[in-house]
Amino acid sequence: MTGPTMNLLILGATGPTGRILTHLALRSDDSVTAFVRNPATLGDLAEKVTPVVGDATSQHDVLAAASGHDAIVSALGRSTSVRAGELFTRASAAVVGAAEESGVSRLVWLSSFGVGHTYDWASPTQKTIYRTLLRSIYADKKIADERIRSSALDWTIVYPTRLTHGPAQGTYNAADRLPMKGNPTISRADVAAFMHQSLHSDEWIHRSPVISD
Ligand SMILES: NC(=O)c1ccc[n+]([C@@H]2O[C@H](COP(=O)([O-])OP(=O)(O)OC[C@H]3O[C@@H](n4cnc5c(N)ncnc54)[C@H](OP(=O)(O)O)[C@@H]3O)[C@@H](O)[C@H]2O)c1
Repeated sequence: MTGPTMNLLILGATGPTGRILTHLALRSDDSVTAFVRNPATLGDLAEKVTPVVGDATSQHDVLAAASGHDAIVSALGRSTSVRAGELFTRASAAVVGAAEESGVSRLVWLSSFGVGHTYDWASPTQKTIYRTLLRSIYADKKIADERIRSSALDWTIVYPTRLTHGPAQGTYNAADRLPMKGNPTISRADVAAFMHQSLHSDEWIHRSPVISD
């Protein structure tokens, strides 16, 4: 890992990707504030992070947690729901507002391949899924990503293909644009590793990396 250790505010730390990211950060001596709705969901992380209770759609709550951190990172998601419930539009507004107000300029945000400009690059199989099953989530994420991209923050928006629970391979591809065939995957462990590396480098600032096996 390059660069000094960081003081991170992680949103979605209790989800499957956020949990791996949190473990990686702790292993490389970053300090982690976990922004959670319910601290009971932290499980084995409870002793290792500083928990802050709040709702990610509340700018008030995110602002109360943000100051003093070197970066904010989001692995927020809707779990198995196919309805966005405006989570991403509302959380992006809250996070951008709180980050600007507290002076935390670095933001790494987890989106999904197929959202926004990346839809045009999708394979026919992917496009069918994005247009149907993931329609609500993707429409909501598009607005969120645009808001982040037009902010004054040092943002990175990450676009992984379909996520698996497999182990980290370290052999995935990351680029501003990747060719797609069929319905490729990447493990949450590799996504978490990429996000953690991005936090510790300037390489992906103001870029929207697509990552996939
Ligand atoms: N599944 C795929 O194939 C795929 C592909 C590409 C990208 N993605 C994206 O990857 C991201 C992560 O997915 P995942 O499956 O690892 O995680 P996930 O199960 O969607 O995790 C959701 C996390 O967000 C938190 N959260 C939700 N609403 C919140 C709120 N209002 N305030 C605070 N926290 C809130 C949850 O906290 P609680 O513990 O309180 O519920 C949990 O920690 C998602 O954005 C997903 O869309 C998924």
